[in-house]
Amino acid sequence: MAADPGAAESPPADRDVFPSVLVIGAGTMGAQIAMVVALSGRTVCVTDIAADALDRARAELDSRMRARVDKGRLTQEQLDDAFARLTTTTDLAAAASDVDLVIEAVVERLEAKRALFAELDSLCPTATVFASNSSSFMPSQMADARPDRFINLHFFNPALVMRCVEVIRAPSTAQQTVDAAVAFVRDIGKEPVLLDKEIPGFIANRILNAVRDEAVSLMENGVASVSQIDLACRTALGYPMGPFELMDLTGIDIGYLIKKARFEATGDPADAPARSMSELVAAGHLGRKTGRGWYMYENGEKVGEA
Ligand code: CAA
Repeated sequence: MAADPGAAESPPADRDVFPSVLVIGAGTMGAQIAMVVALSGRTVCVTDIAADALDRARAELDSRMRARVDKGRLTQEQLDDAFARLTTTTDLAAAASDVDLVIEAVVERLEAKRALFAELDSLCPTATVFASNSSSFMPSQMADARPDRFINLHFFNPALVMRCVEVIRAPSTAQQTVDAAVAFVRDIGKEPVLLDKEIPGFIANRILNAVRDEAVSLMENGVASVSQIDLACRTALGYPMGPFELMDLTGIDIGYLIKKARFEATGDPADAPARSMSELVAAGHLGRKTGRGWYMYENGEKVGEA
């Protein structure tokens, strides 16, 4: 996957598609998705049940976007305009009452997502399209409330930088919803990758999971350390970061929950989370966000293998 740090800042060609967006969940993905949408000229509101998550998201976006201004990638005026279009609230009912598109980016638990979409159905206008940023669950597992107006828009981490957004339709999704979603993704400066049929994990994560499983197996079998495996991937395969570095960036718990969900669905032992990943999750070592995962971090910088 190629990174295109400038992509999110391209001026939009057409803001008519979903001019008002609600992002639910102020984690890393939700916050950065919201900023991408705001930079495209749309109004966007981020909601979360926790007010401190909203404060953290704003502070993180502030420092990350300020760095872009310092580097000359964005003018102060463009940034001020984007922040003026981005609001945050814990009041879901108020935020949902007048939006064209909802992008859900909450915890990767199917029941939480299904309950949220059921609630949103009673809060949003009937024309509102619902989208999930789930990394693994298929749209048909979440589309009950709005079968024809439901789609998965799967962004990649870091969402401000990665160009790909996988667009996954359920069998019930209307063509009009698919067309609008594709136009929206293009218009926010991303590259839509359209799947012809749904499958758990979609395209990129399925490929990534195969690489990650092999990397973890090599490590667990004592073949090489995590840093040497990452080094091979960077220097032999041209990956921007190795699989362990990437797990630390995206959160080891995220990969763990994806594998757990797959295992629960298939019962295939090959789909079960690896022992070493389960141990890290149980110990709370989730990657960069906790200062320790496969590597140790200080002030956001990698300082060595854990
Ligand atoms: N958030 C936002 N922006 C970030 C960032 C972050 N966490 N980390 C780096 N960036 C930005 C930097 O600010 C910089 O921007 P400018 O060009 O404007 O200065 C740009 O990205 C490049 O960063 P760096 O020069 O510091 O470092 P780099 O060249 O190594 O790039 C990277 C960093 C973009 C993260 C790159 O290493 C990369 O592409 N890594 C692979 C990421 C990847 O595979 N993501 C997919 C993960 S799977 C997933 O997301 C699916 C899922 O369902 C969980």
